[in-house]
Amino acid sequence: MHLQRIGRKSSVSTRTNNFIPLIIITIICLDSCNTLKQPIYDTVKIAYGNSAMVVTVHPLATETGARILHAGGNAVDAAIAMHFTLAVVYPRAGNIGGGGFLVYRSSNGDFSALDFREKAPGAAYRDMYLDDNGEVIPGLSRSGHLAAGVPGSVAGMEAAHRKYGRLPFSTLLAPATELADRGFAITAIEAGRLNKHRRDFLQYNDEAIPFTKDPPDTLWHAGDTLVQKKLAETLQRIADHGAEEFYRGETARHITREMREGGGLIDSVDLASYTTVWREPLDIPYRNYRVVSMPPPSSGGVTLGQLLKIASRYPLREWGFQDTRTVHLMVEAERRAYADRTYHLADMDYYDVPIDSLLDAQYLTRQMHTYSPDSATSSGTVMSTDFAVPLESYETTHYTVVDPEGNAVAVTTTLNSSYGCKVFVDDAGFFLNNEMDDFSIKPGVPNQFGLLGKEANAIEPGKRMLSSMTPTIVEKDGRFCMTIGTPGGSTIITSVFQVFLNIAEFEMTASEAVRARRFHHQWLPDEIVVEENALSPQVREELRSMGHVFREVKLIGSVEVIHRLPDGRLEGAADPRGNDHAAGF
Ligand code: DON
Repeated sequence: MHLQRIGRKSSVSTRTNNFIPLIIITIICLDSCNTLKQPIYDTVKIAYGNSAMVVTVHPLATETGARILHAGGNAVDAAIAMHFTLAVVYPRAGNIGGGGFLVYRSSNGDFSALDFREKAPGAAYRDMYLDDNGEVIPGLSRSGHLAAGVPGSVAGMEAAHRKYGRLPFSTLLAPATELADRGFAITAIEAGRLNKHRRDFLQYNDEAIPFTKDPPDTLWHAGDTLVQKKLAETLQRIADHGAEEFYRGETARHITREMREGGGLIDSVDLASYTTVWREPLDIPYRNYRVVSMPPPSSGGVTLGQLLKIASRYPLREWGFQDTRTVHLMVEAERRAYADRTYHLADMDYYDVPIDSLLDAQYLTRQMHTYSPDSATSSGTVMSTDFAVPLESYETTHYTVVDPEGNAVAVTTTLNSSYGCKVFVDDAGFFLNNEMDDFSIKPGVPNQFGLLGKEANAIEPGKRMLSSMTPTIVEKDGRFCMTIGTPGGSTIITSVFQVFLNIAEFEMTASEAVRARRFHHQWLPDEIVVEENALSPQVREELRSMGHVFREVKLIGSVEVIHRLPDGRLEGAADPRGNDHAAGF
């Protein structure tokens, strides 16, 4: 009914680009998964451009963005086209059923920030995920209809277009519509994800769910072609009638029917009243840099601001990249900043977030007075709580573009978990988010990223749930310098922090900075999460002797960077951890 499959192809190559990227170095990344060991798309991890650059998590989305730029579109046009393309080719995170944040810098240096985060439905209430004894009902905020917030992506794309777009909105939807209609070859990673979530799809949808094969125990393979006719129809309706169609038209009716039948809360009033907000971006000075990022309801800008302000007081450059002293300082700053995040950050339309106090120099000095260069501070003494943390597989995606005029866009968007709440709006062809889990569903109970929440982030009707998404644009000496962003739940902020420092302090190229192994601390649980091979054995040993505890994970984040080089060219750095792809010209 929804997504049809054309049989497995023996080999599918990347479509021919109709632009000539000025690529100096190409790292060919073969899709890596346990399904089919052959490349579906050649991915370019390091690209150089004289004036323009596009980086996304998927080659087809990057190609779409570059085509729009070649057709005379600007950075916002390209971003919109990439957003809709990712909704087709990267269904686990790309979306029209989710939300996100966009940070923009015009070529003349004006910044703006667009909030298209999901909202709690009008019928949502504080204890909606608790049973009669006040205990959390496992899974209710993460899967199924009740986990979905009111989607913001379509309104967000239209709002961005209304303010900055140049090409017609319908033109920007055309590449995505065509890909959905004609189909595309899925990567090995996507096939693996679809196989992994097959059981969830069956649990939360009727038997016709298109992302499972027929019979349902048949596996997806790299190279299988996905055709998403229903999604193509929805995208065409949006192209013809704009966001109005999604929020008040046929698509809205499909969503509300899905909700009624599945026991969800989103109704026609929630959809019709959804609004995006242009917010004042967070502006953080760091030496001769100006780091501009997302304000609440993202915690990204404030927490990154605290980290940078603390880091700027220490001789990190002299200590060196991932030296024991450097890692220790960064971890201690992260421990304190994430404690603040837990208590103070939330949707500031509903809660008075003390942004100025949190970024105040004296306050940060006070927070750091318990810092010792020789030993780890116990998180319990920073603020006491105790819990164990599960960490699920999760997904979000970041895309970024600089156009030939010098306008820059950084967007992070998500369904929260992979494929959101796993509920597929059958007649409209897309997954809904499970962003409600980003609220504090009960004080002291961690969300899927192990993040604690307090009163500030409690559920209220119409409120936006706290996010960690940190789309960031940086100036150096008053000129555009770089864009940075990544998925990764709670690790987003610390990944942006590290990649920025790698470039600004440790003089790495953007690609080196992105490739460098990452680590993360979030106050609680009191542990340093490290990528495999991150930190030398000696550094790990020294940190252990100071009282730090490690937990190893396969990878952290999927960072995309565009960096302006001293000669004015742009370096695009796509994360080698996935199918991410950069193209410049
Ligand atoms: O808004 C947030 O912070 C989360 N919903 C982001 C989820 C995420 O990054 C998952 N992906 N890797």
